[in-house]
Amino acid sequence: MLKYKPMGKLKIRKYPDKILSKKSAVVRNIGDKERQLASDMIEAMREFDGIGLAAPQVGILKRVIVVEDATSNNKGVPYIFFNPRIIKQKGRCGFCEGCLSVSGVTSDVIRPESVVMEALGPDGKEIKIETGGVLARILQHEIDHLDGILFIDRVNFFKRKKILKQISTKVCIEL
Ligand code: CO
Repeated sequence: MLKYKPMGKLKIRKYPDKILSKKSAVVRNIGDKERQLASDMIEAMREFDGIGLAAPQVGILKRVIVVEDATSNNKGVPYIFFNPRIIKQKGRCGFCEGCLSVSGVTSDVIRPESVVMEALGPDGKEIKIETGGVLARILQHEIDHLDGILFIDRVNFFKRKKILKQISTKVCIEL
């Protein structure tokens, strides 16, 4: 990954940017251009202290996500997944989520507790991961981005209203 030099800063798109609610396209070919994008996304994720990032968040509607679970033993080893999809899910649990594209707010979101995910790695090889905990949470959150879904779309009406109010209040203060 290091052989891809940084291309400069990617800008993080913020809610309510319309691109965040669009569906991303399947990556048909994994070449240098695609790997460079993933490498730039990792750079942006680290810069903004994220633990996951999806391509639409940097304005690119392609099915690419990067993940770096700082709480796991894999700290410092980011994952790159092309065309990730959840093929199995089990259980349900609440977990406090935030998002680089929805700054300043967090919310408890109910999702499946463990998942099986299939994807292609940067070398184009098939990857299958069965996981629970934080990693399962990140994968589901990032894959949602590829389908134009934000975590605030996953909470109930009242919570969502409260969150959106927080966002607009924040903007008012910043103005
Ligand atoms: Co997010």
